[in-house]
Amino acid sequence: MEFSQFVVIILVAIVSYLLGLKNGSNGGGSESAGFMVDKATGVQFPTTKKFISSKKNELSCVGVGTRKKAVLNIYSLGLFVSSLLEKQILKENPQGNALCKTIQSSNAQKAIELSFVMNLGPEKIAEAVSQIDGVKEDIKTEFHDMIVDGLGGGKIKKGENMTFEWKGSEITVTARGKLIGKMNDKALASGVLDLYLGSKSVSPSLLQNLGCK
Ligand SMILES: *[C@@H]1O[C@H](CO)[C@@H](O)[C@H](O)[C@H]1NC(C)=O
Ligand SMILES: *[C@@H]1O[C@H](CO)[C@@H](O)[C@H](O)[C@H]1NC(C)=O
Repeated sequence: MEFSQFVVIILVAIVSYLLGLKNGSNGGGSESAGFMVDKATGVQFPTTKKFISSKKNELSCVGVGTRKKAVLNIYSLGLFVSSLLEKQILKENPQGNALCKTIQSSNAQKAIELSFVMNLGPEKIAEAVSQIDGVKEDIKTEFHDMIVDGLGGGKIKKGENMTFEWKGSEITVTARGKLIGKMNDKALASGVLDLYLGSKSVSPSLLQNLGCK
């Protein structure tokens, strides 16, 4: 064997080993060209995406996960952050839980896209995201009703999406690519984000994929 062939074999081995390590440590997510894939469902999230509230700014996908109930997969979710926040993360390189804390405490734009893999009724969806400690009752009710009304009484079907989008203390909700509404309440906005990025996340696989856990 020529020396150059030998070098190529060694390089291929090293790269495969490193890729393998990455695969093994990212908790159900994997990256392929232009997408981050939730392996549990096969849902592909684009690495960058414009959201209704981000207007012309693209946000970057930094983590994916699954929302499960018992053994059922309900939806896949992708967390997107602004390039400003992404730069801050790369610079500060917070480890473990500190990463999720950095994202949670930032005022920069963020979004979570839910991509449903089973049908779910509007009441179930609204209840799940409005039962938040530390938020005023009337605010919770308003948020709940905004989602139920916005979904038009119909189930979210397999293959349909919703988003929660954050900008400072403002939270925007969309479904099926259309704006449902927005509310400006600090406790509500951070409470909904905490459902996903807090230590009791409804998607432990998202925390694992981000490396927060
Ligand atoms: C990583 O996981 C993906 C999805 O299962 C797979 O297609 C890919 O080949 C894996 N990469 C490596 C290097 O094992
Ligand atoms: C829902 O979101 C997923 C993940 O970003 C995407 O692959 C899919 O095309 C979206 N579906 C619709 C109907 O927009």
